[in-house]
Amino acid sequence: MLTLGIETSCDETSVAVVRDGNTILSNVILTQVVHSKFGGVVPEVASRAHLKTIIPIYDQALEQAGVGLGDIDLVAATMGPGLVGPLLVGLTFAKGLAFGASKPFVAVNHMEGHLAANILEHADLDQSHLCLIVSGGHTMLAEVKRFGEYEILGGTRDDAVGEAFDKVAKIMGLGYPGGHRLDGLAQSGNPDYVRFPRAMMGQKNYTFSYSGVKTAVALYLEKLEQGELERHKADIAASFQEAAVEVLVEKTLRAAREKRLYHIALAGGVAANTRLRKMFQERLNNKKYRLFWPCVELCTDNAAMIAAAGYYRFQRDGPSDLTVNAVPYLRLTQA
Ligand code: KG4
Ligand code: ZN
Repeated sequence: MLTLGIETSCDETSVAVVRDGNTILSNVILTQVVHSKFGGVVPEVASRAHLKTIIPIYDQALEQAGVGLGDIDLVAATMGPGLVGPLLVGLTFAKGLAFGASKPFVAVNHMEGHLAANILEHADLDQSHLCLIVSGGHTMLAEVKRFGEYEILGGTRDDAVGEAFDKVAKIMGLGYPGGHRLDGLAQSGNPDYVRFPRAMMGQKNYTFSYSGVKTAVALYLEKLEQGELERHKADIAASFQEAAVEVLVEKTLRAAREKRLYHIALAGGVAANTRLRKMFQERLNNKKYRLFWPCVELCTDNAAMIAAAGYYRFQRDGPSDLTVNAVPYLRLTQA
């Protein structure tokens, strides 16, 4: 069964063709660069950019997969969470395609898409597992009972971890979005140079908070003597990253022990972080547990994960109604 996936929830225009929820035939991703000069995503600019590029990206995805619209069995598109204008572009395009070509349509929760990236890539991941979803918009720990059945163990009470990476990168002059660049810079830094706060790490809950560490870095930078930032940029980046990542690892491993979940999956843009992956490996030397993460392309926003989630949703619940609308604050449990 061939699923056409469409993702436009933020600043990536992406279209993919996936066979049977596990084989990627194409996954074309266009990241809008127009936002970097504004230091953040401008929703209206993003909507217009999606409008301009969605058809050429769709054509490219079909061409790379070597199929035509007639070969597609299911059309899946992100309905939320995300920015309403960008969501509407992809969703409306997908519904139009499905209606015009008499194909079933399925609306996909973007968070379930991130979660499905691991299912798509790792055939040996247990149906029942723990998933840490960390991105620019979300920080969430979920117990996956099986695809479509989740218990949210906790989330962030303020900023998402990716947002903190981006804000710290911005004030350090690394540009936007800077999570990836901060990760690269931190590789040559000393993570013990400054001890930034590990918010809520000692608390026996699965709640996260990232606005404090971001402010702590901003205040620290303000007080620096001239030249110190340039001399110790990598050390400061590594110190922030260490604080941000340690809370994620601690709380996730505690949840895995308490819930007796032996397969742990990382998903979302921040799952591409090299220190996060390494710290998990360092602290998880118990052979009972296994770690999973998607390749970098499937960590950040892409349509292959949406096609995979759409395929599994369709198997579970059948098609969505074509009257379905974009829901900017859609929760994982509303998938
Ligand atoms: O999943 P994603 O593409 O979009 C959302 O759904 O939000 O995640 C993007 C986020 C951005 O905040 C970006 O800076 C962050 O993921 N990110 C990283 C890395 N690569 C991407 N953060 C830390 N280290 C990375 N290597
Ligand atoms: Zn995302």
